[in-house]
Amino acid sequence: MSAFEFTPGDFPFENRNALLDDYTPDELVGRDEELQQYHAALQPAIDGSQPDNIFLYGKTGVGKTAATRFLLDRLTEGGQQHDVDIETRIFNCDGLDTSYQIGVEIVNSLLDDGEKISDTGHPRSKVYSKMWDAIESLEGLLILVFDEVDHLQDDSLLYQLSRARENDNLEKSRVSVIGISNDLAYRDDLSPKVRSSLCERSINFSAYDAGELKQVLQQRQSIAFQNDVLESGVVPLCAAYGARESGDARKALDLLLKAGDVAQEDATDVVATDHVERGRDLLEREEVTRGILGLNSHEKILLYAIATFDAAGQGEVRVRDLYPRYERFSELADRDPLTSRWMHNHLDDLDMLGLVVVEKRNEGSSGGHYKTIALNQDLEPVINALNETIEEVGIHETIRQWVSD
Ligand SMILES: Nc1ncnc2c1ncn2[C@@H]1O[C@H](COP(=O)(O)OP(=O)(O)OP(=O)(O)O)[C@@H](O)[C@H]1O
Ligand SMILES: [Mg+2]
Repeated sequence: MSAFEFTPGDFPFENRNALLDDYTPDELVGRDEELQQYHAALQPAIDGSQPDNIFLYGKTGVGKTAATRFLLDRLTEGGQQHDVDIETRIFNCDGLDTSYQIGVEIVNSLLDDGEKISDTGHPRSKVYSKMWDAIESLEGLLILVFDEVDHLQDDSLLYQLSRARENDNLEKSRVSVIGISNDLAYRDDLSPKVRSSLCERSINFSAYDAGELKQVLQQRQSIAFQNDVLESGVVPLCAAYGARESGDARKALDLLLKAGDVAQEDATDVVATDHVERGRDLLEREEVTRGILGLNSHEKILLYAIATFDAAGQGEVRVRDLYPRYERFSELADRDPLTSRWMHNHLDDLDMLGLVVVEKRNEGSSGGHYKTIALNQDLEPVINALNETIEEVGIHETIRQWVSD
């Protein structure tokens, strides 16, 4: 085989797509309790009755979307088999953030091509009345899922839909609403009337533990990888890291994928735990870079100032030493420095992003309280991600060895 040839099914993967986020597995493992509750909540549908509105919540990557797709597919199949009219529609509210936009999407998801409406230019009441007409013409049960519902900026539609029957908007059809969120405060922030109707039943998806993640990974690796290419320690290690990072299956699957990619580049015979470790380093770097690229210019200058103390071997720096350097760096970049109060607040934001660690210190009776700041990431990826800021400010002597002019 000549160099740089592309051949399908290359080692170590059998089906690499099975590790990507949009892949829906045929079976869900490690979610028995949650699936049981969710299944029971949907059961009235197949008995020709209306399920309660359901609110599904839990941290990111715990299977909320996967479980919903999985159960609604089965419910639709069950409906066809037992001759019960059940329609389901799933909307992701990330990007559809007003009731108006969702209303249009619902209408268009129910109408044929020639009848669809444009997504602007109608009074809201007209969108709603079209929506009721479209739902009414189903003459059956419609289950509407609003995934990432916390993106929705107003709850007018949620309220209308969850009260459709009581408000006489529907006679021949029924609507059940499922709201899904990983923002645990969202439910409490809803207005009481919406909360009581949307959250008739709440189902919590807990974080995965290492054992559950092992099951998820085991099942997926048998589809994604060729036979016998994973060393026995690979899946448990990815599961252990996933469990440590908030029990997120998405992260654990990403790590398994990255380990496979690293092994592929290495052109070895097996995927080993060392590939997992290197994959993890790469993922961490990517995450650091993403986090830094999302900062505004002043936050980047502040992080640059912190990095220079780290580069000089000073692990922790006090605010009173950091602020003057931030101030000088801002001036060098031709920007007006923000106040030290601003800096205090933004240090906490950088801490939340995992870029720095802010610690409060107490110097006994004499010294009072003060804060120390330390970089919480390897210097090199931080400096790489800050390269535009470094160009604006200039290369500080402490980091000269890390950057080329
Ligand atoms: N029990 C499981 N079995 C197999 N795969 C799973 C399981 N749980 C999650 N996954 C996979 O993990 C990834 C994340 O799951 P999912 O998208 O359902 O998370 P989520 O709870 O909806 O997260 P978010 O709040 O970020 O939307 C998906 O690729 C999904 O297929
Ligand atoms: Mg989801």
